[in-house]
Amino acid sequence: MNKKVAILTSGGDAPGMNNFIYELTRLLSQDNVFVVEEGYKGLVKNNIKKADIDLFEERRFNGGTIIYSARYPEFKDKEVRQKAASNLKQREIEYLVVVGGDGSITGADLLSEEGIKVIGVPATIDNDIFGTELTIGFQTALETISNALGNIKDTSESHGRISIVEVMGRECGDLAVNSSLGAQVDLISIPENKITEQELIEKSIELRNNKRSVLVVVTEGMYDVHNLAKQIEEKSGFESRATVLGHIQRGGWASDSEMQLTKAFAEKTTELLKENKTNLYLVSDLELNIEALPIDQITKPKENTTTLSNLELFERLNGR
Ligand code: ADP
Ligand code: F6P
Repeated sequence: MNKKVAILTSGGDAPGMNNFIYELTRLLSQDNVFVVEEGYKGLVKNNIKKADIDLFEERRFNGGTIIYSARYPEFKDKEVRQKAASNLKQREIEYLVVVGGDGSITGADLLSEEGIKVIGVPATIDNDIFGTELTIGFQTALETISNALGNIKDTSESHGRISIVEVMGRECGDLAVNSSLGAQVDLISIPENKITEQELIEKSIELRNNKRSVLVVVTEGMYDVHNLAKQIEEKSGFESRATVLGHIQRGGWASDSEMQLTKAFAEKTTELLKENKTNLYLVSDLELNIEALPIDQITKPKENTTTLSNLELFERLNGR
């Protein structure tokens, strides 16, 4: 393909981003592919380089993003976006593929108003994007969280504790629910179905009265989990500990399923670019059927039906 294409990663990094970059560079011709380092910040600073397929191939399984990422609120300013568009135009780069979350893809939508043809590729461990069952990074993060929950369960059982684990996800409970399905979790609280602080304390104690250890998983931003643990100890006399998993959830080698998803996204992106179909973003179902939606739909809130049905499944598996 003779068209010049630039790729950038933006927002929170996610395992699998590197394989997407590798696959897209491989499928297009390396000579026409450019990368922007450090997301929109790098685009405005004109930090644009030729793609290096050998390096991408070597690093394709690695977590993080080899072309770096950034949060750059200045991109909300139209003049800043005009500068970004002009940097691409000076190099005769007509197409930009933005790999990131809903914020990043919203930025791409706005950049298209400056004459750049864009494609958004959903990448965030949170899985919080409208229209897609899967985002790049989600499946790897689930494995990381499930492993961590298993480790915490081991020590919690030894000490007879109530353990509260806070996972990432912003306003989306998918990381909490899906990672708990295969783990020995007793109680979940997510933004889509929040349990009050008092309920959470009472339910944990009730569960602990009937078993040696209790594992509770909550989404970030809902409670002060260390304070919750303190209140549980004071109320019940049972030992309680809180763990905030934090950025451990964002790194690590991409899982096999992540590699498949990113390859499927790269194939669809290539097809769209070749057909000159742009100003779209990609979505996937659980079978990796990839579709493209108009990019302005990125601002719609994610539907919570799958999240809530998985929560129901969790409750059923736990006999409730
Ligand atoms: P994510 O892409 O994972 O949702 P953010 O919401 O932090 O993460 O967005 C990443 C970056 O995308 C921001 O730092 C900013 O550069 C750009 N961005 C986000 N929202 C907008 C917006 N409304 N307009 C323009 N750019 C935006
Ligand atoms: O969007 C991904 C994410 O990891 C969220 O789960 C979390 O709230 C946020 O990014 C943390 O961002 P930062 O690394 O910038 O603190």
